[in-house]
Amino acid sequence: MDNRPIGFFDSGLGGLTCIPYLMKAMPDEKMIYFGDTARTPYGSKATSTIRSFSMEIADFLVRSNVKMIVIACNTVSATCLDMLRERFPQIPILGIIDPAARAAADKCTSENNIGIIGTKVTINSGTYKSLISSYNENLNIYEAACPAFVPLIEEGIIDNEIMDLTIKYYMNDFVHKNRLDTVILGCTHYPLIKKNIERIYPDLDIINPSSIIVNKIRDVLEGRDMLAENSDFENIFYASDLSENFVNMIDHIFEDENEDAKVKFLNFDIENGDRHI
Ligand code: DGL
Repeated sequence: MDNRPIGFFDSGLGGLTCIPYLMKAMPDEKMIYFGDTARTPYGSKATSTIRSFSMEIADFLVRSNVKMIVIACNTVSATCLDMLRERFPQIPILGIIDPAARAAADKCTSENNIGIIGTKVTINSGTYKSLISSYNENLNIYEAACPAFVPLIEEGIIDNEIMDLTIKYYMNDFVHKNRLDTVILGCTHYPLIKKNIERIYPDLDIINPSSIIVNKIRDVLEGRDMLAENSDFENIFYASDLSENFVNMIDHIFEDENEDAKVKFLNFDIENGDRHI
């Protein structure tokens, strides 16, 4: 048993899409989340920049005594997983891409045409494609970068025509020309527009890595006898800029729960502050 929290991080609020799945599957687990809302998006930045940001955040989580780090960001998982594992060998570090790639490879689809949408960095890294092909060489894999999705989602522009038009702009040709039957949401922000995508492309099967990672978390914790039991740790959500959407999303996640969560401001360059919800 290990009652220390699990550390999650993302460039912003996207990684929060894993949290409801974690709370449902493993209600005893507690968490410290860091969203780098001041420096989002990561997905169009240089790899060296993403690495330096990620190192800073992982170092903070390790100092906060988390028992595991979950990289709730495809962009960071694609570029920094090995580096972070080398830097912090004492702690299990999970990337979000591999479990989703395995799930996609196991899925037998009618045309075997799978699409991946993600940030520029994730798509250019080719990580999904090479992992999926290594698990199943019979799939046709197509990829599309959709760089405008994250800034719109961080701004809360979701349930409206601008988002629908942006989805069609990036995805219409991609889905139809490649006769896709399945698409992987290769960015943790995208589950927030899953309903839009389902409405626009009702025949498409959607793979959501934010839900799949939870099984992997459970397997690793179970395998190391590190599951929590009756922990009294209070979940903490840090953001490097306390945007309204970040706070609203946490409110939303916890509105039906008998749980408390602290939301805190933490910018590595500026002073710290607290806020209770
Ligand atoms: N949520 C992130 C991902 O999964 C990062 C998006 C971004 O900051 O560009 O890739």
